[in-house]
Formats: sequence, structure tokens, C-alpha cells
Amino acid sequence: MKRLSDRAAFEQYAAEARARWERLWSEDQWVISVGISGCSIAKGALETYRNLSLHLSEGHIPAVLRQVGCGGWCFAEPFVEVKLPGHPPIVYGWMTTDRVPELLDALRRGDLRPDWALGVRAAGAWHGIPPLTEHPFLRRQRRLLLEHAGIIDPESIEDFIAIGGYRAFLKALFEMTPEEVIAEVKASNLRGRGGAGFPTGIKWESGRRTPARPKYVVVNSHEGEPNVFKDRRLLESNPHLVLEGLLIGCYALETPCGYNYIGGEHALALQRFQRAVEQAYELGLLGDDILGSGFSCHVRIRTGGGAYICGEGSALMYAIMGQRGQPRTKPPRSVEEGLWRRPTVLNNTETFASIPAIIQNGGSWYASLGTKESTGTKLVTMQGPVKYLGVAEIEFGLSMRELIFDVFGGLREGYRLKGIQTGGVSAGPLREDELDVPIDFEALTPLGAMVGSGGFVAFDESVCAVDFARYLVAFSRYESCGKCTPCRLGTPALVEILDRIRHGFGRPEDLDIIQYASKHIIELSLCGLGQVAPMPLLGMLERFRDEFIEHITERRCRAGVCPIAAGEPLSVGR
Ligand SMILES: Cc1cc2nc3c(=O)[nH]c(=O)nc-3n(C[C@H](O)[C@H](O)[C@H](O)COP(=O)(O)O)c2cc1C
Ligand code: SF4
Repeated sequence: MKRLSDRAAFEQYAAEARARWERLWSEDQWVISVGISGCSIAKGALETYRNLSLHLSEGHIPAVLRQVGCGGWCFAEPFVEVKLPGHPPIVYGWMTTDRVPELLDALRRGDLRPDWALGVRAAGAWHGIPPLTEHPFLRRQRRLLLEHAGIIDPESIEDFIAIGGYRAFLKALFEMTPEEVIAEVKASNLRGRGGAGFPTGIKWESGRRTPARPKYVVVNSHEGEPNVFKDRRLLESNPHLVLEGLLIGCYALETPCGYNYIGGEHALALQRFQRAVEQAYELGLLGDDILGSGFSCHVRIRTGGGAYICGEGSALMYAIMGQRGQPRTKPPRSVEEGLWRRPTVLNNTETFASIPAIIQNGGSWYASLGTKESTGTKLVTMQGPVKYLGVAEIEFGLSMRELIFDVFGGLREGYRLKGIQTGGVSAGPLREDELDVPIDFEALTPLGAMVGSGGFVAFDESVCAVDFARYLVAFSRYESCGKCTPCRLGTPALVEILDRIRHGFGRPEDLDIIQYASKHIIELSLCGLGQVAPMPLLGMLERFRDEFIEHITERRCRAGVCPIAAGEPLSVGR
């Protein structure tokens, strides 16, 4: 790859990339794309890819076989997209390796197998196959960040540039001052997607105003929370989008130092982001004097070792510096003293990925999406017995009911929704009768629920509220770093009480002890982990109190999952 020396050289490279991209789709050839991502690999996508390669060469079918990322429809993995000469691309789901010969035979006979198709990538139906955008999972989505997920090869900078990638960075670099970039981000009212929803423009402005140098910009790709896998999929499917957002952030802060801290469990995300960084260096979009602009930027990658707490901003920074990943008291805030006690702006992966569209289309355009206080789109993941498991991108303002029943298809046959756990492990649940609440940062809070990082769990009658609460609190207990007493001793105490109740040895006063202990853990803990650890329990207790009481007074678990039901002996503190 030749290093591009200036903007004109980039424009020429982009024009050639676009022309190649258009030829790929218009030439008289088969183009077969296989989604290769964490979810699809688990369901056999690599075997599908290998089998396709074998059958195409044995059958002498002249085809371009390519890899793409995850389209978000994890429920239908592995997926294969086929573009036949003269046809629009058709996306097929559940394409396990055993189906490959049958699919190829059918296509050669001119049978498009509509029964296996998720949809056609075209504006209208094709031979009875509806457009992909009309699939129930996609119909209510608004895809900005996922627009090209599942379409471009995540390991190809050329694909990314062909579909308009790095244009926003060039616009910022050559047409805007750093102050103007920050003004657009402020106008967009983008709020951080890592959980707390802090306004990104204000954070960037504070970082810029702090005089000390050097400054650092850090992407938080740790994503250690259970039930959430949106950042991982984003990095697996479009890593250059995150890198472009990071570059714009570095330009706005006028710093040459960017980091991405990626959870060590997300091997493919790490590999693809690493590749993206290498390619950007090779092409001259990273390094010294980028495209002759005078601006230099270097990006380093660090990986986590699996501790959830290392996703907390200050702990993450200690981990990057090679120290023990533990939170510290604030102030000073990291925009004043972060990495190596220098001003550091830290944002979530999805936050950075939202930046290019804001710069390209303007802050006010972005602010027109979503609701007044929660603008733009949000990546959400849903676990539980829903029909369409996966990653969706919705505009803020959609109701929780629409999210579950329209986007994720409602519950599978035989299941009845009991509630939905919100905010990963950091907030309370909602009952079925509360689902008309709009999804935005403000509306959920009075109900004790939270958007958080966008991980939701739908649960049905087979889930016991006491048992589920125990699982959520036990996660925080296990992940507590132990630095402060209320969290270190308080979370195991809560788990112990819940175990007592689950085993049929609960006492009526235990419910008051839970309230009392939770209040102190929330108020006295040093960091966000302890401050929210009791929230799921308090929410379950408020909404499903009768279940707790049944366990205590009747020694009965209506879901039949607690040891009480099986008459198991007491074993607390596991
Ligand atoms: C225990 C704990 C774990 C966290 N884990 C993550 C994480 O994995 N990813 C993330 O972006 N933010 C995480 N956060 C929030 C970060 O501290 C920080 O607020 C966020 O990365 C800022 O980015 P944003 O403004 O774009 O949301 C965590 C916070 C706590 C308390
Ligand atoms: S609240 Fe928990 S995780 Fe946070 S510093 Fe204290 S002990 Fe560590």
C-alpha cells in the first residue's frame, strides 16, 4: 500500500476504491460474502466459508468469495450473501456448512431458495424475496453505525474508503478548526454510550481547555458487562469507523496520542482493530504529518485481562499505565488528570463511532434524531428467549415494548414475558405493564431502570426474581476490586442474604436488612460498581416482592429454580 502524501492523493485513492467497489457489484460474476464475527464463528461460519471455497473451485464457479462482519442478525448466523449476475444481493440465514452444496446447486438451477432468504439488499422485492430492510428485525431500526456492517470487509481499508470512510476525518482536518469540531459535537448533544450518558462535547471541551500537555484520547472498548456485546461487534464489523472517530477526537484535542483499551476476551475485535491501525499507518492516515496537514497522530492498543472493573475510566487508565486496575477518588477528573496525570478524554467505542456522521452531516442533523435530551441512535443487545437475538441500532424514543416486540420479535413460542432487566447489571427491571416507557436517558431513571450501555435481558415466568437478583449482585461481588469496604463487604453480605432466602432459611427482617445495607453500599462506595451494585436487587424487590415473601414465609419458589424447590441443603457464599 502506498503512503498517501496529501488530500488530492487521498481523493484519487478514494475514487479508485469506489470504482473497484462498483465494479465488484456490477460485473457479470458471482459475489459471495460470508459473515465472519464472534457470533457466526461460534455457529460454524468458518466451516461454511471453507466449504463454499471448496465447492466453488470444484464446481468451477467463477465467484468472488469474501468475508464481511456481523450484520447484527446473530439469530440467523451463519449468514451468506449471494449476488448472482443480474440479481441484487440476497442474504441467506442459518447457512451452516451442510447447507452449502444444496444452496449452490439450487442457485445454479436458478432456484433462489426464498425459504432460506432473510431478504434482498434492494429497494423492492425480488422474485418473491422481500427487501432485507422490511425484515421485522430491521424494519424499526435506524442504522447509522451499522449501516455497512455485514457489507464491507472489516479487514479492508479500501472497502471502508469506498463507502465514504475517513471523509469526516478529512473534513475536520482540512476544513475545520478543532474548536469547530467540538462545537459540532456539542450541537449534536451526543451523550456518552458507555453507561452514564455524559455529554461528549462538554467532555471534549473540558479536555481541550486544560492547559497541561501532552493530552490523551482513549477509546474504552473493554465491554466486560454480561449481556452486552455491541462494542465488540462494532469493532469486528467496522473497526475503521471507531478509528476515524478516535482520529477526529485527537484532532479536536490537538494531541498526537490515542489509545484503545480492548477487553482481552474480544480476540477478533482486537485483531481487526489492530489490522485497521496497521492499514491506516500504511496509507498515511496515521503517523506523522498526516496527508501533509501538519497534524500527527499515533494510536496504541492495550488489552485487558478480564477484570470488569478495568472498564471503569480511572481503573482503565491505571491498567494502561501498567499499574493495578483500581478506581480512584475524583476529583481530579480525568480531563484534568488522567493518563500519566495529563488531561485525558475517555469515551466509549460507540461514542467514537458516532462522531464521523456528526462531522459529516452536522451536529444539528444528529440532534434531530432521537429525543430532545437523548439524540441520535443507540446500539442495543437483547438476551433471553426473544425471537431475534442480536445487535440492533434504534433511534432513541422507541418504547421498550416496541424494542422487545417489534425489533427483537417478542418472545419465542411457549414463553410469556415477565419483565426486562435494564442497564446490564447496573439498574432495576421493568415489569410487563411498564414497557410503554420510551428508551432515553431520562425517561427510564424515575422507574429505577437505565439505558446504561444498552444491554437488556427479557425474562419469563421460568425465571425466579430472587435467583436472578442473586445472579446480578453476585456478578458485582465477584468483580468488586476490594478497594473500599462498603462494596468489598457489602456485596457478599447481600449475596449471603439472598442465598439464605433461596435455600428456604430467609427471615422476614432480611428484606429490611437488604434495604439498609443497599443504601449504605450505594452511598458509601468509591466507584460506580459499588454505587449501583444493589440496584437490580432493589428493583426486583420492589417489583416482585411477593416472590421474596413466598420464599421466606412459604418456603416456595414459584419458578422452581431455587434450591428450596429441590430441597437442597444450605450452601451460602458460593
Ligand atoms: C465498573 C464499571 C465498568 C465500566 N465498564 C465500561 C466499559 O466496559 N466500557 C465503557 O465504555 N464504559 C465503561 N464504564 C464507564 C466508564 O467509566 C466511562 O464512564 C465511559 O467509558 C465514558 O465514556 P462515554 O462518556 O462515552 O460513555 C464502566 C464504569 C464502571 C463503574
Ligand atoms: S466500589 Fe467496589 S469496585 Fe469500586 S473501588 Fe470500591 S471496592 Fe472497588
